Amino acid sequence: MSTPAELRASLADRLTENGALTEREWQSAARAVPRELFVGTHFAPVTGSVPTSYRPVREGEPGWLEGIYDDRTLVTQLDGRIGPEDTAGEAVTGIPSSSSTLPSVVLRMWQQLDAEAGHRVLEIGTGTGYSTALGAHRLGDANLTSVEYDPTVGAAAAAAIRTAGFSPRLIVGDGLRGDPDGGRYDRLIATCSVRYIPLPWLHQVKPGGRILVTLSGWSSANALALLDVTGPGEATGRFLTDQTSFMIARPHDRPPRPTLDLLPGDESPTFIDPATLDSWTGGWVAQLAAPAAVRTGVGARQILWDLSTGSQARTAPGPGGGWTVTQRGPVRLWDRVERAVRCWQAAGEPHQDGFGITVSAAAQRVWLGTEDGPGWDLPV
Ligand SMILES: C[S@@+](CC[C@H](N)C(=O)[O-])C[C@H]1O[C@@H](n2cnc3c(N)ncnc32)[C@H](O)[C@@H]1O
Repeated sequence: MSTPAELRASLADRLTENGALTEREWQSAARAVPRELFVGTHFAPVTGSVPTSYRPVREGEPGWLEGIYDDRTLVTQLDGRIGPEDTAGEAVTGIPSSSSTLPSVVLRMWQQLDAEAGHRVLEIGTGTGYSTALGAHRLGDANLTSVEYDPTVGAAAAAAIRTAGFSPRLIVGDGLRGDPDGGRYDRLIATCSVRYIPLPWLHQVKPGGRILVTLSGWSSANALALLDVTGPGEATGRFLTDQTSFMIARPHDRPPRPTLDLLPGDESPTFIDPATLDSWTGGWVAQLAAPAAVRTGVGARQILWDLSTGSQARTAPGPGGGWTVTQRGPVRLWDRVERAVRCWQAAGEPHQDGFGITVSAAAQRVWLGTEDGPGWDLPV
């Protein structure tokens, strides 16, 4: 049986071989921080369950330690309230609300942030505290502040971080508001996603500093953005190549949804194939046009439902070929999506890394190619 140190070294070697871990300082952090202190009893998805159910994996059960050093996300809370200790061993359903993100993603993001010794860093989403401990190992306790929204999660993380021998500054609160004491940071890294870039971050990160965050929305499409802060309240940057997904920040999460009633509306032809939205980038482009819409359906029959205004759009094959769309409500969801998809198609359907975003108090504009290229304002 391997020791935790051997399992850590083996994980660090695997991540180095597959290119996720390239920098010596982060390699030593991966070898030093014991993930088992942060994860303990956790949830594992039950293979094939729909909707996904989770069974508790008890600390010390056979395979527990080896599982912790798989490069996998380990879920530690469901629905903002159910922990693995709250179940009597049975599988439960729920939406993951806290986890230890897979080590390859956490370590890759720390490297992409390009934080150097001496930089002051603000982390949003302490979660289990594993990524925080990696950061504290590399940057030093005094340079790292981490914010967690959920007090139960925050308390467990604080205990684990202390046990592992680190003492960064830890805050329980809404990280979308930044550091409640203000602050001047060189870097900000978020391990929860956001529906739009929170403006307080643009004032707490110094001009010349960087923000690394995943942009998502209520259709669950995701893309990781690296922004340079260009002035107080202003930032610009590009989306990166990796297909990175994160649970959405709690204040940006969608409200509980009632049952969807498809209601009558105005019908018109549409000139894009609705199935375009089924691809990773197509669905993400649509979400950039309507981030508060939930998308269901598939192929020619897409349904968009904006939970904040109740607006709906649904597509169907047209009687004589092509497609029609039926829209109702104050936001013409499909018109927005169609404009965005056509703009993307006219640019040759680039991957997410062909997009960028420029943010100020006036607007959050997504663009293609270059900052002055075609694009549109992200609805916020
Ligand atoms: C994917 S987990 C974080 C993973 C973590 N960095 C780790 O290595 O264990 C996302 C965390 O973000 C937290 N979160 C959600 N919204 C937040 C907010 N507005 N401010 C701070 N934390 C938030 C969640 O409670 C959850 O614990």
